[in-house]
Amino acid sequence: MVDFSASVKAMRSSAIRELLNTAVRPDIISFAGGMPNPSLFPIDEVDEIYRSLTVEQKQTGFQYGPTGGYPPLVEAIKAYLQKKGLPLEGNEVIITTGSLQAINIMSKIFIDPGDTVICEDPSFTGAVTVFLSYQANLVGVPLDADGMILDDFDRILDKTQKVKFVYITPNFHNPAGIIYSRERRLALLQRLQAKDLVLLEDDPYNELYFDPADCAVTTPLKTLGKEQTPICYTGSLSKIFGPGMRIGYLLAPKEIINKAELAKQSMDACTSTFTQVLACEFFRQGKLEPYLNRLRQAYKHRADIMLAALQQHMPADVRWNTPKGGFYVWVEMPEHIDANQVLKTSLAKGAIFVVGKAFDPLGQRNHFIRLSFSHMPEAKISRGVEIVAQAIGETL
Ligand SMILES: Cc1ncc(COP(=O)(O)O)c(C=O)c1O
Repeated sequence: MVDFSASVKAMRSSAIRELLNTAVRPDIISFAGGMPNPSLFPIDEVDEIYRSLTVEQKQTGFQYGPTGGYPPLVEAIKAYLQKKGLPLEGNEVIITTGSLQAINIMSKIFIDPGDTVICEDPSFTGAVTVFLSYQANLVGVPLDADGMILDDFDRILDKTQKVKFVYITPNFHNPAGIIYSRERRLALLQRLQAKDLVLLEDDPYNELYFDPADCAVTTPLKTLGKEQTPICYTGSLSKIFGPGMRIGYLLAPKEIINKAELAKQSMDACTSTFTQVLACEFFRQGKLEPYLNRLRQAYKHRADIMLAALQQHMPADVRWNTPKGGFYVWVEMPEHIDANQVLKTSLAKGAIFVVGKAFDPLGQRNHFIRLSFSHMPEAKISRGVEIVAQAIGETL
């Protein structure tokens, strides 16, 4: 019999990945993956960019690159972050292979088996899987509409040893769809500073607000906290350029980035230089902002269709949030309902989603479901919601 490592035995398979692997029937309406809509990818822009590259740039793209990232892209990301108010002084940026790799790197450099990571409950399932793979003691703090509930945070902190870092997604949370209020951001920062705790701030949906008036509401904690507490900020181009590019970044204090670069060397040597060259030109040629405006309108429209369908079809005692951006609606069913049962019925009728327990740090609570409105063609959203609502109704 093969004898696997303790680390791999501690991993839980991602429910989302399993579902994506099994539910390949083309007629299925999928609200499962947190994927951008393929019709929205910037294919024309990338065609144009590729044609504009010099032979030397193309050769660079085919070559290995520095572990910290293709230097012109690092500079472009720094300029972008600085424009958003993020502090560069005392910090450094490395390019990562998606922000999931930044989460992986942070785990590798901070977590010894048994160390505690405080995360949100619910929390991004990909991060939960990474933390568990490093044998972290994972403790979830419940969320309300404004962010982590701080009384619970205090209570948990009081009785928890060896907290290595706190992990949050403050903007357009996956899966809860919420956005942290400014008051909650500041109050959380105060607590982190008082205990000198490291924060891992995961912000891949920052740009995907529906209303320009909400732009300021997404201000990262790293911007608000400046240098008083070690905040490691990870962003991603996955939701605003394409996840196939596999480009993320980590902005963190220099001493942390030095270790992060060492950790990355042992993972993949460097992120694809080819996609970094393309991404760099996407920034440099001013293509990002017009593209983002297109995306924001398209996702707002999809969210509106989903919300109208939820209103029309959901049984009375089912609740959900109204997202102001991002990809997700988080649906709460009565506590006695098991989302797995709903999923089975819904799958038989032709629609799928992710069950709540995939996002529970303890893998238990299962009366929520996550509906992603980003991926399906608009024309299928209403029908898909109707199917899910029928499945909930039958399970009730
Ligand atoms: C909150 C959150 N963090 C990180 C990621 C990973 O993104 P990437 O493709 O950059 O690895 C995702 C993807 O769904 C996410 O929702």
